[in-house]
Amino acid sequence: MEIPKKSDSRRKFIKNSTLAAGSFFIVPRHVLGRGYVAPSDRLNLAAIGAGGKGYSDILNASDNGSNNVIALCDVDSLAASKARIAFPKAQYYKDFRKMLQRHGKDIDAVTISTPDHVHGVAAMSAISLGKHVYVQKPLTHNIYEARQLTKAARTHKVVTQMGNQGASEPGQVQIQNWFNEGLLGKVHTVECWTNRPVWPQGIPVPAEKPELPEHLSKGDWDLYIGPADYVDYHPLYYHFKWRGWWNFGTGALGDMGCHIIDTPFKVLGLGYPNEVECSVGSIFKRDWNPEYVPEGCPPSSRVQISFPSSSKNDSTVKMIWSDGGLRPFHPELIPASDELGGKGSYNGIIMIGDKGTLTCDVYGRNPRLYRKGEEVMTMPEGFDGGNKYLDYPEWGHNKQWVEACKAGYQSKEHLALNSSFDYSGPLTETVLMGNLAIRSYTLAKDKADGGRDFYGRRKLLWDGESMRITNFDKANQFVGREYREGWDLI
Ligand SMILES: NC(=O)c1ccc[n+]([C@@H]2O[C@H](COP(=O)([O-])OP(=O)(O)OC[C@H]3O[C@@H](n4cnc5c(N)ncnc54)[C@H](O)[C@@H]3O)[C@@H](O)[C@H]2O)c1
Repeated sequence: MEIPKKSDSRRKFIKNSTLAAGSFFIVPRHVLGRGYVAPSDRLNLAAIGAGGKGYSDILNASDNGSNNVIALCDVDSLAASKARIAFPKAQYYKDFRKMLQRHGKDIDAVTISTPDHVHGVAAMSAISLGKHVYVQKPLTHNIYEARQLTKAARTHKVVTQMGNQGASEPGQVQIQNWFNEGLLGKVHTVECWTNRPVWPQGIPVPAEKPELPEHLSKGDWDLYIGPADYVDYHPLYYHFKWRGWWNFGTGALGDMGCHIIDTPFKVLGLGYPNEVECSVGSIFKRDWNPEYVPEGCPPSSRVQISFPSSSKNDSTVKMIWSDGGLRPFHPELIPASDELGGKGSYNGIIMIGDKGTLTCDVYGRNPRLYRKGEEVMTMPEGFDGGNKYLDYPEWGHNKQWVEACKAGYQSKEHLALNSSFDYSGPLTETVLMGNLAIRSYTLAKDKADGGRDFYGRRKLLWDGESMRITNFDKANQFVGREYREGWDLI
């Protein structure tokens, strides 16, 4: 793939003009008038994946026209149409490699909101050109990609944010404050759960080969497959439903893990896990004979991820993840009639310490802290967690990134981001560690009697620094992936 040489003249211009503004003003702000945005304060933005979530990501980044959207990329012209109407001056591409090649010099920052299998290669292409990136969750499709993006963001000195917008909600700050005050004590057990999958999952690989929808060409489909293994078009693979297939998605855990595990991961200052094990649900269409679909994510799973103690939390932690309708039982301190997690208990978190037990919804929302013999503690009304962008869409998660891009790498705005890759890289690795366990669990060889020998069903020991499972080598095939010819992590 031909990519222009890194040219960051405009990026330097933005950063330098910010530096200059810090030392002297050529034209005082008030002379320019209220609401005036100087051209040098505008970011030049591009979107990779402009339909689906990508539409709101680029809309939020444009910040009501405060920034220029100069290019949009989406393999699907129909899916991209809303964004193209919103940004009529933006040039439209189907291949992000061509877009980056053409606009390599002009783009400052890129939003990346494709299905999970494209995040890694698209983000790396932009980062290697020195572009700031906002990448949807999970940051990547596999652990190796997350590690490489985290490193590349430092090497190329770009401002990054993963799109787990709940990281900017005030509930997380409240929980952090309670934990820092010692109200939970040392936390040893964490439960996280979601009602996902809410799309077809655990079902057989589709056998039929329907025609492509009229608006999609073979070339569009090839671009959609991108770095993944080639499969013919099927509506079960695009759109939205790609989540249930390992070739494209990361299942229930990948979809919600970065939103839900985020709170305990940050509050407890967790790092690389050291052990993981799991069990998964099965589907039976015939007596005694479970469907075997290693290509598909399972209909439900429970995963236990273990962590060593951290500088914030002087205890080892067992984190238990449940999905597909499974959820934890009431811990001792939470009364039987109180709801666990969020409304309807669809998603939630429980953190159990030696002094208190906390439960909250996804994003750390609506936290309740239970302590023996004391009133339940809740978040005071109007608590904003110090976030001055709360009125912006998604609690200003995207706006904070935009401001940090303008302020530059390692600026105080950058260091204040809630999900820059230094943090969200290891968080994503942890989430994907669960998927590595799930995929190892389904490894099997056929037996002579027609049954199956599941030889991967064990506790896996992880060496985080060297990115290796140390007690079952076959599991290491799921750390990274082979890319289809023509695609690479560069
Ligand atoms: N943060 C959140 O709350 C949130 C919510 C929804 C989705 N997401 C994330 O956003 C991403 C997209 O999810 P979605 O639900 O919008 O999926 P989707 O299938 O609805 O949309 C994906 C879009 O990406 C486009 N696309 C696919 N491959 C592409 C490629 N190679 N180049 C350019 N465009 C490409 C598709 O045509 C489509 O318009 C996922 O990673 C998902 O996890 C995050």
